[in-house]
Amino acid sequence: MFLTLFAVTLLAASQTLVNAAPALEIQTKFIVTPFDLIQMGARSDCTTTDECRNATQAAPFVNSALRKYRIVSTGERAALLSLIIFESVGFAFDINHSENNPGQGTRNQMNFPFILEYALDTPRVAKEAQALLGPYIDNPSAIPSATKNAIRELVLADDLSFASAMWFYTRRGPKQTGCLEIPGMVEGLQDESVSGWQNYLTQCIGTTVTEPRRRLWQQALTVLKPAIAST
Ligand SMILES: *[C@@H]1O[C@H](CO)[C@@H](O)[C@H](O)[C@H]1NC(C)=O
Ligand SMILES: *[C@@H]1O[C@H](CO)[C@@H](O)[C@H](O)[C@H]1NC(C)=O
Repeated sequence: MFLTLFAVTLLAASQTLVNAAPALEIQTKFIVTPFDLIQMGARSDCTTTDECRNATQAAPFVNSALRKYRIVSTGERAALLSLIIFESVGFAFDINHSENNPGQGTRNQMNFPFILEYALDTPRVAKEAQALLGPYIDNPSAIPSATKNAIRELVLADDLSFASAMWFYTRRGPKQTGCLEIPGMVEGLQDESVSGWQNYLTQCIGTTVTEPRRRLWQQALTVLKPAIAST
């Protein structure tokens, strides 16, 4: 289903381009390569922790997540990928090692109770999450630290951990629309404007704009922008 839609999108896009500009060939980057990720700040090799994934290991999970949640535009991809590269320090980490914020993790360093919501929204681990939640169903913030960490453990498999930012952007929340209905969100990111990206960080992610984050986003845009080659 996803693949079919994706293929249709590709076909439609290429036909538009053929009609509009026969002399130009746009090399669309629908697949993010390990080299792209390295240029965007991902590690090329891992010597540090068990959590670390090198760019070659990360790329398939990144591409599956983009496909699964249909993140197609360059601007949205740049925002989400620069976020996870920033938060995980180039895919070196997928939990917060500080004892002061139990349950925080996956590649976007998502906080509790978003981690819980992600686990409950993931069919293969939802039952286990439900069981761990137990009596705290009405008050997830009262869940003991060890249990928060156990719930986090349920979503640390690479396919889930690398997809949490995409889930958060498109599905989080009671209406399961993530950040997509926040005014200006999708258009702002697709426009690749600084104000659109700031809107994402402050209104969707709930963090502050910093220069290192801006540099990573800018770099991601440069890497992911389709190259235009004369034919
Ligand atoms: C990346 O990880 C894979 C799998 O562990 C390994 O085979 C490969 O050599 C690593 N690449 C680098 C550049 O370290
Ligand atoms: C990890 O948790 C600590 C304590 O709450 C916090 O200061 C730090 O910013 C967190 N790290 C990340 C990557 O969010």
